[in-house]
Amino acid sequence: MLLEINHLEKVYRTRFSKEVTNALQDVDFKVDKGEFIAIMGESGSGKTTLLNILATLDKPSNGSVILDGKDITKIKEKDLASFRLKNLGFVFQDFNLLDTLNVRDNIFLPLVLDRKKYQEMESRLTSVAKKLRIENLLNKRPFELSGGQKQRVAIARSLITHPQILLADEPTAALDYRNSEDLLNLFEDINLDGQTILMVTHSANAASHANRVLFIKDGRIFHQLYRGNKSNGEFSKDISLSMSALLGGE
Ligand SMILES: Nc1ncnc2c1ncn2[C@@H]1O[C@H](COP(=O)(O)OP(=O)(O)O)[C@@H](O)[C@H]1O
Ligand SMILES: [Mg+2]
Repeated sequence: MLLEINHLEKVYRTRFSKEVTNALQDVDFKVDKGEFIAIMGESGSGKTTLLNILATLDKPSNGSVILDGKDITKIKEKDLASFRLKNLGFVFQDFNLLDTLNVRDNIFLPLVLDRKKYQEMESRLTSVAKKLRIENLLNKRPFELSGGQKQRVAIARSLITHPQILLADEPTAALDYRNSEDLLNLFEDINLDGQTILMVTHSANAASHANRVLFIKDGRIFHQLYRGNKSNGEFSKDISLSMSALLGGE
């Protein structure tokens, strides 16, 4: 088992009022190496809060997140950046590519920050660029790329560190149907290569590309579905039904 999330709670308190939000309540699940998990739920259900805690960008009020036997919620502030660089990959909604750098240097960035040797960087780039079919884009700047090309570059950058887990928060939210499908098919491909992926989404279609879907409601895990041998279409229908149940209450 790669990741163990134990009784996670997150309480937000506003500073000047007594208002309390229980953004996560007793969230408990395990992730095996090589899983592709989608986390679904309506707006405000706690998806981003959960992902941010798994990403060590935020701390829980209670509970633990054990990665390789170590509680990552207890990592000291000064060690967090290095921990993230070595262990986590991120795909952001707007891709966060730097227009001042060409594609090669954008992809190198996490390795530069981690002080990897140039030869090592080159050899990793060769393989990741081939996998994502962006070999001919390396000298371009992000503003010269199409949306679909940008997302390939962003995924390459997230994979070049060989992360234990790839985290994505609504990665298809800003994409049209075709680019969404391309991204999801890429996620399926890299998952088949063994990459563990956790993706937050509110789209049943996006979630149908995962192997397991966790449904979250009012900060609690409400239900989960495994894909089994179902096709994307069949699984997508099951997911939609679960979402309707979730929205409809008990
Ligand atoms: N920084 C914050 N301060 C106070 N409340 C927050 C903060 N971030 C999120 N919340 C609240 O926590 C709940 C879960 O939010 P979030 O995790 O962003 O949901 P989702 O990503 O599923 O839309 C919501 O009620 C939201 O208003
Ligand atoms: Mg969110």
